[in-house]
Amino acid sequence: MDTSDTPEKIAQEVRGCTLCPLSNTRKQAVPGEGPANPTMMFIGEGPGYHENEQGRPFVGPAGQFLEELLASIGLKRSDVFIANVVKCRPPNNRDPMPSEIAACDPYLERQIKLLNPKIIVTLGRYSMAKFFPSQTISRLHGQSRLREGRYYLAMYHPAAALHNPALRKDIEEDMKKLGALLKEVSAAGQPPAVEEPQQLRLF
Ligand code: URA
Ligand code: SF4
Repeated sequence: MDTSDTPEKIAQEVRGCTLCPLSNTRKQAVPGEGPANPTMMFIGEGPGYHENEQGRPFVGPAGQFLEELLASIGLKRSDVFIANVVKCRPPNNRDPMPSEIAACDPYLERQIKLLNPKIIVTLGRYSMAKFFPSQTISRLHGQSRLREGRYYLAMYHPAAALHNPALRKDIEEDMKKLGALLKEVSAAGQPPAVEEPQQLRLF
């Protein structure tokens, strides 16, 4: 790893990035934000209307809901790092294209390496697919997976769950599971040495 890399360096590069066509239509790029040494990192899909206006992640209705979910396990948004798969808003909130995700991925990779969170929470299908390309979110959500000393937990996207009672119940329950996992990880100080054999075979 480049030892001179910093979250702020990444953020500055993102703010001026023109590596994909989303740079033509964005108002403000959204690098992500949070503590420099977070236990947990949340990864969403991409900026929406409010994020594009403000240059900050999850500041619209989905963000409000995410904050409520965090509060349900005693956390504030400033306790966790929040990032996205693509850092610039896709026009009209369309899905990000594979080429855009690929262009933006090195920023996310650098963030993960640098922040080295003990737990990564994926919000929605796009961030889940980065780590679990062959899974479906309906099967994987709420289950923690340990890989190379780090836990991964997939959740539905808060924007999808906000107005869908079934998904909302799922994401609320998954957040409780995350709270339990966080307690476990904090108590252990480090993840257990023995990983799930099933997971070792997958990757
Ligand atoms: N939805 C996302 O996926 N990310 C944000 O930052 C806001 C809404
Ligand atoms: Fe660059 Fe990512 Fe924005 Fe595309 S989405 S312009 S790769 S920062």
